[in-house]
Amino acid sequence: MKWRMASFALAISFALPVAGGETPTVSPDSVPDVLVREQRTVLPKVAPVEEDYARNCQGCHGHEGHSVVEVPRLQGRAGWFTHTREGRAYLVQVPNVLQANLTDERVAAMLNWLLTQFSNEQLKPGFEPYTGAEVHALRKQRIESVITRRREVVDGLVRAGVIPDATALAFSLEPGRY
Ligand code: HEC
Repeated sequence: MKWRMASFALAISFALPVAGGETPTVSPDSVPDVLVREQRTVLPKVAPVEEDYARNCQGCHGHEGHSVVEVPRLQGRAGWFTHTREGRAYLVQVPNVLQANLTDERVAAMLNWLLTQFSNEQLKPGFEPYTGAEVHALRKQRIESVITRRREVVDGLVRAGVIPDATALAFSLEPGRY
C-alpha cells in the first residue's frame, strides 16, 4: 500500500509543472519516443536543407518535385531554367521562393539542392551553384507578373535551343496558352 501511494505521488509530481518555475521545455529531439524506446527504431536525421524544402515547398511541389497539375513540375524540368540568365533569375524570383521565410543563404542552398536532386540532367553544363549574395541581389528585383515573366523566360529557352518548344515546360495555370 505504501509503495502505491509513493508511486502515485511520483506520477503526480511528473505531471505537474515544476513548482514556482516555468514549465520545462523539452527539445523534440530528446523526447523518448515510444517507437525508439520499445522497438528500437532509429529515425534518420533530416538534413537542414531538406527540412527547409519539406516545411516551405513540399506541400505544393511534392516530396519528389511533382504533385498536382496546378503546380509546375520541378522534377526533370527545373534545371532547364539555369541555361539562361533570365531563367536563373526567375528561379529565385517566383513569389514563393522570393518571399520564403528563409535567409538568402538558405534559399541558395535549397535551390542548389532541389536542382541537383530533382533535375540534375537538365542543368546547364558547368552549372555554378547559387550563392547567398546572388540570391540577395535577385530577391530585391521583384517581377511584375510571374506568368508573364515565366512566358518570356520559356520563350527565351526555346530561342536558345534549350527546349524544343514551350510545351516542354507547360503547366495548367498559364491561361490561354496550353
Ligand atoms: C502555395 C503553393 C506553392 C508553394 C508553397 C511553393 N510553390 Fe513553387 N510554385 C508554385 C506555383 C503555382 C508556381 C508557378 C509560378 C507561380 O504561379 O508562382 C511555382 C513555381 C516554382 C518554380 C519555378 C518552376 C516553373 O516551372 O515555373 C520553382 C523553382 C519553385 N516554384 C520552387 C519553390 C520552392 C523552392 C518553394 C519553397 C520555398 C516553393 N516553390 C513553394 C506553387 C508553390
